[in-house]
Amino acid sequence: MEKMNTQIACIRLGRVHVITVTSPEVGQELLLRQDSIFCSRPVHMSTEISTYGYLTVALTPYGEQWKKMRRIVTSEVLSTQRLRWLQDKRMEEVDHLTRWVYNLCNNDVGGLVKVRTVAQHYCGNVIRKLMINKRYFGEGMVDGGPGPEEIEHVDSLFKILGYINAFSVSDYLPWLRRFDLDGHEKILRNALENIKKYNDPVIDERIHMWRVKKEKKEVQDILDVLILLTDDSTGSPLLSSSEIKAQILDLMLAAVDNPSHATEWAFAEMINEPKLLQRAVEELDEVVGKDRLVQESDLSNLNFIKACAREAFRLHPVSAFNVPHVSTADTNVAGYFIPKGSHVFISRTGLGRNPKMWKEPLKFKPERHLNPDGSQVVLSDPKLGLLSFSTGRRGCPGVVLGSTMTTMLLATLLHGFTWTMPPSMVSISLAEAEHDLTLSKPLVGLAKPRLAKNVYPTL
Ligand code: HEM
Repeated sequence: MEKMNTQIACIRLGRVHVITVTSPEVGQELLLRQDSIFCSRPVHMSTEISTYGYLTVALTPYGEQWKKMRRIVTSEVLSTQRLRWLQDKRMEEVDHLTRWVYNLCNNDVGGLVKVRTVAQHYCGNVIRKLMINKRYFGEGMVDGGPGPEEIEHVDSLFKILGYINAFSVSDYLPWLRRFDLDGHEKILRNALENIKKYNDPVIDERIHMWRVKKEKKEVQDILDVLILLTDDSTGSPLLSSSEIKAQILDLMLAAVDNPSHATEWAFAEMINEPKLLQRAVEELDEVVGKDRLVQESDLSNLNFIKACAREAFRLHPVSAFNVPHVSTADTNVAGYFIPKGSHVFISRTGLGRNPKMWKEPLKFKPERHLNPDGSQVVLSDPKLGLLSFSTGRRGCPGVVLGSTMTTMLLATLLHGFTWTMPPSMVSISLAEAEHDLTLSKPLVGLAKPRLAKNVYPTL
C-alpha cells in the first residue's frame, strides 16, 4: 500500500473482497459514520471453534445472538457498578504480583525477572479471579508464581489468540476445510480442550449448585452473575451452559494479551531510555509516596504512566490489524464501491505509525500524549489516531477494565522495583518477532526492591 501510495486497498481472496485501511480518516468513515454497515464479523474456522459456534460477543457476526451477549456483557459484566464490586479481587492480584516479583528479587539483592511471564500471568490471574474466583487451579508455586496448570491455561489462551483470524486458506475456499491443510484446526481444537479441562469443571459445578441444588450462597464472581440471569418474561435461565462457557472464554481471551503486551514493550523502551524510567518513578513517588503500594484511586493522577501505556499501544499494538469487520450492505467509502460481505482490516500499525499523524512515528515518546492543560490522559482514542480500543458499536466494551489492568500493572512494577538491564547487556534489542509484533526475545530485566521491606505484602 505504501508503494501504491494508497490508504485503502482491495484484495480478492476467493470470492471475498478484503479491504485494508491505513488512515484515520477512512477508519473513522468505517467505524463511526458507516458503523451500522461495518458491524459484522467474518465467518472463519478459527472463530467458529473458539466461540462454540458463535455464541459469544467478540467474534460473532452481527445478529440476535451478538446483540443479546453484547447487552449482557456491557450491563452485567463490565458496567461501572460491577467493576466497583470486583475491585477487591483486582487488588488481591496486584498485591500478589508485588509479592511474586519481590520473591524473584531474592529479597533485597535483586534478581532477573521475565517481564513477559510476569505480565501475562498477572493478566491471567486477574481475569480468572474476576470470572471464576480462582487464581490457581492447582497449588501454584511457593514464590507466588503460576503452577503447571496456570501455565498451561495461559499458554492455551495465547495459542488460541495467535490463530484467531490468522490467514487460513480454507476460510476463502471453504471446500478445503476438511483437509485442514495448514493444521490450524487441530492446533485450535487442542488448545480449546486444554482450557475446557480447567474451566468446565468449575462452571459445571457452579451451575449444578445454583440451578439443581438451588443452594443459597453469596454471589461471588461473574460466573455466578451469568448463571443467575433470568429471562424477564419466563423467569427461566437466560444463558445455557454452553453460552456461559463460551462467554467466559471470550472474556478471558479479551483480557490477557493487550495489557501484558503493552507493558512488556513499554518496559523494553524505558529500560533503554532511563530518563523515561526516572520521570515515571518521580511521578509515582509524588502521587503515591514510598510508604504504601499503588491503589486504583491513584490512577487518575498518574498521567505520565498512562502516557507510557498509550505510547506502547500506538507504537507496539498487539496485532497488525484490528479484529476484522464485515460489511452488511453495499456502500461507498473514500470514493470506492465496497460490496456487501467485504472483510475490512484496519491496520493498527498503519494508524499508530502514520507519519502524517505523528512526528518521529517510530520513536517511543510518551510525552506526546500529555495534555498541555494537564487534563487526564486516557488510553482510548475514538478518533483513531491510534487504534487501542477501537470505536463504534463493535468497539471494546472493556475500556475501563483494560485501562485499569494495564496502568496498574505498569505502575505497580515501576513503583515497587528499580529496573535495569541484566548485567551482561548494553541495550535491549527492540526487534520484533518474525511472525507477530511481540519482542523477538522475551524481555528480562534486573529488578531490585525500592521500598521499605514492610511495605511489600508477604506470602
Ligand atoms: C488494554 C486492554 C484492551 C484493549 C487494548 C482492547 C482492545 C479491543 C479491540 C481493538 C477490540 C476490537 C474492536 C473492533 O472490532 O473494532 C476489542 C473488542 C472487545 N473487547 Fe477489548 N481490549 C482490551 C481489554 C478488554 C477487556 C479487559 C475485556 C473484557 C474482559 C474486553 C472485551 C472485549 C470484547 C467483549 C470485545 C468485542 C466487542 C464486540 O465485538 O462487540 N477487552 N477490544
